[in-house]
Amino acid sequence: MTTDPLVVFTPSGKRGHFPVGTPVLTAARQLGVDLDSVCGGRGICSKCQITPSYGEFPKHGVTVSEDALSEWNAVEQRYDDKRGLKTGRRLGCQATVQGDIVIDVPPESQVHRQVVRKAATARAITMDPATRLYFVVVEEPDMHSPTGDLERLERALREQWHIDAVTADLSLMSKLQPVLRKGKWEATVAVHKGHKESVARIVEIWPGLHESGLYGLAIDLGSTTIAAHLTDLETGEVKASSGLMNPQIRFGEDLMSRVSYSMMNPGGDQEMTKAVREAINDLSTSIADEAGIDADLIVETVFVCNPVMHHLLLGLDPVELGQAPFALATSESMSLPAREMDLTKMNPRAQVYILPCIAGHVGADCAAVALSEEPGKSEDLVLIVDVGTNAEILLGNTSRVLACSSPTGPAFEGAQISSGQRAAPGAIERIEIDPVTKEPRFRIIGSEKWSDEDGFDQDVATTGITGICGSGIIEAVAEMRIAGLLDESGLIGSAEQTGTTRCVPEGRTHAYLIHDASAEGGPRITVTQGDIRAIQLAKSALYAGARLLMDVMEVDKVDRVVLAGAFGAHISTKHAMVLGMIPDAPLDKVSSAGNAAGTGARIALCNITARSEIERVVREITKVETAIEPKFQDHFVAANAIPHKTDPFPELSQVVTLPSPTFNSGGGADEKSGRRRRRRS
Ligand code: FES
Repeated sequence: MTTDPLVVFTPSGKRGHFPVGTPVLTAARQLGVDLDSVCGGRGICSKCQITPSYGEFPKHGVTVSEDALSEWNAVEQRYDDKRGLKTGRRLGCQATVQGDIVIDVPPESQVHRQVVRKAATARAITMDPATRLYFVVVEEPDMHSPTGDLERLERALREQWHIDAVTADLSLMSKLQPVLRKGKWEATVAVHKGHKESVARIVEIWPGLHESGLYGLAIDLGSTTIAAHLTDLETGEVKASSGLMNPQIRFGEDLMSRVSYSMMNPGGDQEMTKAVREAINDLSTSIADEAGIDADLIVETVFVCNPVMHHLLLGLDPVELGQAPFALATSESMSLPAREMDLTKMNPRAQVYILPCIAGHVGADCAAVALSEEPGKSEDLVLIVDVGTNAEILLGNTSRVLACSSPTGPAFEGAQISSGQRAAPGAIERIEIDPVTKEPRFRIIGSEKWSDEDGFDQDVATTGITGICGSGIIEAVAEMRIAGLLDESGLIGSAEQTGTTRCVPEGRTHAYLIHDASAEGGPRITVTQGDIRAIQLAKSALYAGARLLMDVMEVDKVDRVVLAGAFGAHISTKHAMVLGMIPDAPLDKVSSAGNAAGTGARIALCNITARSEIERVVREITKVETAIEPKFQDHFVAANAIPHKTDPFPELSQVVTLPSPTFNSGGGADEKSGRRRRRRS
């Protein structure tokens, strides 16, 4: 039996015996314990920090004495003086084993550290990025064994980091020699290795130890908006999030109008490609500025987008997506240099990864939702609706997953709405209408107070009350229906029919007045009949898509609903159901997931195994094409009513009783909703 000291690592529980004098980092590596190191044990990166524990550990069967590790050494002292080490921490590459010891590896020292998402359905992302930093000491050139600098750098990577094959392109080669000499033959290299590649590639090189980090962009490229998350590739932390409107809107608001623009205008596809690439360049410059980092440190970008955006981003004419059978140029995932896509405001050797498309009109954004929400791992039948200009809908469980995409239009994003605006300070995001008095009260982004509470006026003094955002318009329309201002067909009643002078004539129809600051030169915010129609079209498309998937699955109800989308987390699930955006389900089984497509992009950015996983999952998803399914049209028409012409909503009626379907049969408030309102206020 060995008398070598026992080393126990927590939290992994891995243990083994090592000779006295073994560095903790070496023991960790031999046991396969996840302990980070960029400098390869030279005592300069501090990634290998550990916390030794002393005393009795009956659970592990060891007693750890005070001298179980070697004494604090000069390298640790130097690091502590320069940067500071937390009390109780040691450097794993410096401390050596002297006796039985229990060693904790803190989360920040783990290579595959987990980052917990800040969402209702929080789950961890394990860090395993395609591009990583390595510190190397490169042999100096020698007259007697003439080899090139790159060859000696390759040898250093092989011997010090077990990276067997690397390449470097010409632009990297041109900086190699000065950098190696400046760093006195010590350098940090960023090496990219894709999940399908056998050869790694040197993306960047810095003299000495590079300590300014490495970053990636996760971009959700939507028809209306482009959202980006600048993510630290070592920690997974989102350093900045930013978004802008997709400039392609000027060529057409929805996907099909952009495809037609390309069909009707020779070179139109190239114009749209140029516009979106310029916008992404602007976005990467501004997001790097916001985070205070050099844009050259952005070495990877992951895109998720629908098929039309996918083609236009890549510079492929989307014309085939305008007609059946909706053939994609490729549905496979893509890895390519950012330069090939004219993305110049990031590292010149940055790499792009685009998630696979599912097929036809079901794109990489839907794949990203599947990666984030994992319907195929759900025991119960889950319906996931990613709300955007083009909605991605997934229905499934462990036995089968179906997907479709539905053209909702931009109404849910506040576009095509008379007082609509993007979600920004000053926008109405919550609204309640008293079912008896028909008076509204609302909240705006930027204030926690309702409009009838003390202090509201002071809160909004700087932002003003500027319009209604996507979640606000959903609540407004649903509340109008609950309060009897709107009949089942979506018609706004007159003042006589509804009993409120807030229902004002507007041409041959009516509008509901929410807020009027026109006397002071401010906006007059109303919900018009045109707004209701736009919302009806959008919600009917959403519901019809979901219903179509339920038909294919041969079910009449689902166990749970997840609402996702850029503003998914802000949608009130009850109001979404009153509106008939989603099929009936118990309200406690309807949840919000935030921007699931964006989260999927971030997962693929931080973890290359997730890329292989989604490529496999996508092959198993059954795609349903809404554009050629006759039943889609039937469902669409029936879903026009609020909440629905024929489908019952028994779960919804447990919490809200809606007024009569028409004004003639006596509209107005019902007792249940009146009581409910008084409780809430
Ligand atoms: S491995 Fe870099 S300081 Fe220990």
